[in-house]
Amino acid sequence: MLTIDIISVQPRMFRGFLEESIVARAVKKGACVVNIIDLRDFAHDVHRKVDDKPYGGGPGMLMMCGPWFEAVESRLAPGERPRVVMTTPAGRRFDQRAAEELSRETHVVFMCGHYEGFDARIETLATDRFSIGDFVMTGGELAAAAMADATVRLLPGVLGGGPAATANESFGREGLLEAPQYTHPADFRGMKVPDVLLSGDHARIDAWRRAQARIITSKERPDLEN
Ligand SMILES: C[S@@+](CC[C@H](N)C(=O)[O-])C[C@H]1O[C@@H](n2cnc3c(N)ncnc32)[C@H](O)[C@@H]1O
Repeated sequence: MLTIDIISVQPRMFRGFLEESIVARAVKKGACVVNIIDLRDFAHDVHRKVDDKPYGGGPGMLMMCGPWFEAVESRLAPGERPRVVMTTPAGRRFDQRAAEELSRETHVVFMCGHYEGFDARIETLATDRFSIGDFVMTGGELAAAAMADATVRLLPGVLGGGPAATANESFGREGLLEAPQYTHPADFRGMKVPDVLLSGDHARIDAWRRAQARIITSKERPDLEN
């Protein structure tokens, strides 16, 4: 079973995530455990301070080493080496392969940054530095939630439909984007579902989906073509 620890200065941001999402369902099914840890519980003063001014000057505040080292170390069992993921726009781009990797682990710790980010020495705690895209957010909470969601939905038994539910998705088995999908009605305001999908001929449907996946990938994400 996968244990996910998320360390943050804004633990309340995860309330909806833990109550409403696929992660909530996975926890109920016993596929994973999610712990939200308040970084300020590891501060050493009455103000629960976890940030300070950067050496050398510059705008904003940086997260301090002390609380982060103690918070991460508090989650480690003796001799254990879990995946410790630092959220940072300066990290490797998180993708489906990374989600698959994390879903095979038994323990993942997410570190949510804030302010101007982390004192560089905090990086030594991390096994991975992941970004969710080339933009800068205020904190790592949404990044950690996105990565945890992408990971948890791959755990066995979480999605109805089993492995097939994810194999044909975007970035799935063939690494392409997903073909267009349709549901009832077959004709909506003159927009018709392609005949092939109504044919019942599964070989033809499969061939059509593969061809569409290639067309869409070539248009939207040529970088994924092989
Ligand atoms: C305002 S950002 C710090 C940005 C940092 N000064 C920089 O330029 O790289 C505060 C925190 O939000 C999180 N964050 C912001 N954008 C992110 C992204 N694209 N992916 C992952 N985490 C992000 C990180 O935890 C980061 O420490």
